Amino acid sequence: MPKRLYARSLLIVITPMILLQSVVTLVFMERHWQQVTQRLSTATTRDLAAIVDMIETYPGDADYSNVIRIAQERLSMKIDILPPEPLPPPGRKPFFSILDQILSAQITKQINRPFWIDTVGDSDVLEVRIQLEGKVLRAFIRRSQAYASNTHIFIVWMVGTSLVLLMIAIPFLRNQIKPILKLAEAAESFGKGRPMPPDFRPRGAEEVRRAGLAFIQMRERIERQIEQRTAMLSGVSHDLRTILTRFKLQLALSGSKPDRESLNRDIDDMQSMLEGYLDFARGEAAEDPGRFDLAGYFETLAEEAKLRKRAVTTSLTGDPTIHVRPKAFTRLLSNIVGNALRYARNVKVEAIHTKGSLTVLIDDDGPGIPPESREEVFKPFVRLDEARNLDASGTGLGLSIARDIARSHGGDITLDDSPMGGLRVIVRVPA
Ligand SMILES: Nc1ncnc2c1ncn2[C@@H]1O[C@H](COP(=O)(O)OP(=O)(O)OP(=O)(O)O)[C@@H](O)[C@H]1O
Ligand SMILES: [Mg+2]
Repeated sequence: MPKRLYARSLLIVITPMILLQSVVTLVFMERHWQQVTQRLSTATTRDLAAIVDMIETYPGDADYSNVIRIAQERLSMKIDILPPEPLPPPGRKPFFSILDQILSAQITKQINRPFWIDTVGDSDVLEVRIQLEGKVLRAFIRRSQAYASNTHIFIVWMVGTSLVLLMIAIPFLRNQIKPILKLAEAAESFGKGRPMPPDFRPRGAEEVRRAGLAFIQMRERIERQIEQRTAMLSGVSHDLRTILTRFKLQLALSGSKPDRESLNRDIDDMQSMLEGYLDFARGEAAEDPGRFDLAGYFETLAEEAKLRKRAVTTSLTGDPTIHVRPKAFTRLLSNIVGNALRYARNVKVEAIHTKGSLTVLIDDDGPGIPPESREEVFKPFVRLDEARNLDASGTGLGLSIARDIARSHGGDITLDDSPMGGLRVIVRVPA
């Protein structure tokens, strides 16, 4: 079965048509054509038999002019009486000719004399020779007199009209399917976090139109929800930041120096957490898709690794340029690679870009994450105990943000065991 809707609907139209026509043609050929030819041939042979009878009953007619005249005028047959020469050898039998078969059978049955017929060729006349006593009767008969010869017209009409029907049906079908394709495209690009095609509006049959309308409403609802969440979170973060700044100022003006230092560090931590919340809230959803250069990103990654004294190896298969929201995607990778750099010493990043899809594997040799916590760590503010002991800063938002970004691109992030002993993070996005 074809996969495409268009091909399928065409098949639904064409198959019954061909089936119907085949059955009709078969029945028609078998019954009608055979029967009509049978009757016509029987009648023609009857005429021939009558002529033979006349010739033999009235031998007085010296040159048979009366018989010839009657045959010509009443029976539409052109006959001659030939001298008694032997009949020509039987001609080549046509491969498919019910006329030859039926006419031969009838002559044998009704006249029962040696005969010779010629039904081959495109000519409009048949030639029949019958051996009589002391002479040979030769008759030219119009083909249409003995044969249902217009049958092919029926087939021509049938095939012709169905072709016309198809030609009308094809553009209609195409028009019916177009809105479905458009809806699929719009849903696809929304799923990948790309802007909807500008010319999209519900069109076509009522059901398709309804689906289109439902899609638009759903999209608006989702966007409204995201907007609300963003507004609230950024409002809260912003307010807190203002207070924090004031707090810092007041701190600078009071107290002794050693106390101030640790308090200042705490405030810095809080500030960076707040930045994290704000980023999370913003979601970077407003960014437009563009080009992202994986090779360039790997270079900056190598520099960062050198600064942090970590061993990072990178590998890239396929086209280094991908089509994503660049800032968001940088954040996604930085969050995950940042985790790996924080929790492990050796890190391996492997990007595989095939047609339409990008897979990035980030392996490390750190403590890893036990399988039962692998869903948990994606929740906002979730940090595992080991991590907390290892490093105080961090809000537990990194993986949530990363997954958010991957999903808004129509992809996802999963966790697994790494062959290097630590955690393997698998990022898959359409690109
Ligand atoms: N590569 C890794 N190896 C081991 N544990 C990890 C790794 N990456 C993440 N984790 C665990 O998952 C938890 C959640 O990670 P996430 O990135 O969301 O938060 P975080 O790194 O603690 O804080 P931040 O918001 O600064 O990124 C971490 O606290 C850590 O316990
Ligand atoms: Mg992190």
